[in-house]
Amino acid sequence: MQKRTVHDIDVNLKTVLVRVDFNVEMYDGGIADDSRIKASIPTIKYLQEHNAKVVLCSHLGRPGGKVVESLRMKPIATHLATLLDQDVIYVDDIDIDDINAKVRLMDPGDVLMLENLRFNTGEESNDPDFCKAIGSLADVFVQDGFGVSHRAHASTEGITRFLPSVAGLLVDKEIDILTQLTESPENPLVLILGGAKISDKIGVIENFLDKVDTLLIGGGMAGTFLKAQGFDIGNSMVEDDKLPLAATLMSKASQNGIKLIIPKDVVVAKFFGPDAERLTVDIDNIPSEWYIMDIGHKTLDMFKSEVSTAKTVLWNGPMGVFEFKHFSKGTVELAATLGSLKGVTTVLGGGSTAEAVDSLGIADRITHVSTGGGATLEFLEGKELPGIMALLDK
Ligand code: 3PG
Repeated sequence: MQKRTVHDIDVNLKTVLVRVDFNVEMYDGGIADDSRIKASIPTIKYLQEHNAKVVLCSHLGRPGGKVVESLRMKPIATHLATLLDQDVIYVDDIDIDDINAKVRLMDPGDVLMLENLRFNTGEESNDPDFCKAIGSLADVFVQDGFGVSHRAHASTEGITRFLPSVAGLLVDKEIDILTQLTESPENPLVLILGGAKISDKIGVIENFLDKVDTLLIGGGMAGTFLKAQGFDIGNSMVEDDKLPLAATLMSKASQNGIKLIIPKDVVVAKFFGPDAERLTVDIDNIPSEWYIMDIGHKTLDMFKSEVSTAKTVLWNGPMGVFEFKHFSKGTVELAATLGSLKGVTTVLGGGSTAEAVDSLGIADRITHVSTGGGATLEFLEGKELPGIMALLDK
């Protein structure tokens, strides 16, 4: 990447403030998915091996500038201690003088986890006093929270005015892979898009229209494309104001010689629920008042055959309501197919696509599963990420 990384700065005996994105999914006080925590371990270990005192900071959820007991970082610090197999000092205090006193007692190699940054209003407002205060904790700043790098907050952007600031190993890896994908992908490139809304993916489609060979559309957003082609989609979700856009994208794709493929059959449900009565129907046979919940088997076979001819596959957004077992087949089988491809670069956007792959236990068979949700999408749209732009150039 064009920015300096931990490899380009001396951290020996220094106190290093590391912004991580440990905004993980929680349940009953436990951690539902620790992949973001694991993804920053290489940076933490690198700093420890180079005699740094490691001060980690992250947000968790959206507490809105006040202390919310269920959003404390404690369970995350405890889990990190298990992963690192060493103590992690957890500071449940948001007073900077108290934190500073604890940081001063650290030895090289120690790891300390600050309390949820968003308990302080200054974090999201990028308040200069808060930036200065957190800057006073350390000698060097390392940005390893790729997932939050699209936010211009105190701990992602403002802090860089107070400390020499470089990228961590996770950020370096994410940016390298996503840059390669957007700037010089190996063709044929197949882009698979799903998820609820076309409006979330417009920027990505537009940015990739001159790069992809094939664009596969599934998930809730397929309803808008199907309706734009004149199909009756029953009660399925649709963005009526995006119908002209869907039609324009289909015609632009055909002008650019891109295969834009929408489902030819779908799994529909009588109501939106996990155990709803279900049918697989062709798209010209969707019963009125039913809901599209997944792609059908003919579509799945077609999508599988398209990815098998690719050199690069980029996937963002599930093919259906994969949280409900009966409607998860499209997402799960497509994920399994990607995991079985040989000699193909496979990259998955974060969020629910990553969750599907994780639940199958095949993440290690995918070239790269991005830890970002919104950050990955913004990067793929061609936008600059403020938390990356602010780092020192090489
Ligand atoms: C994410 O989960 O996408 C990041 O941690 C950013 O969280 P936010 O959308 O609350 O800023």
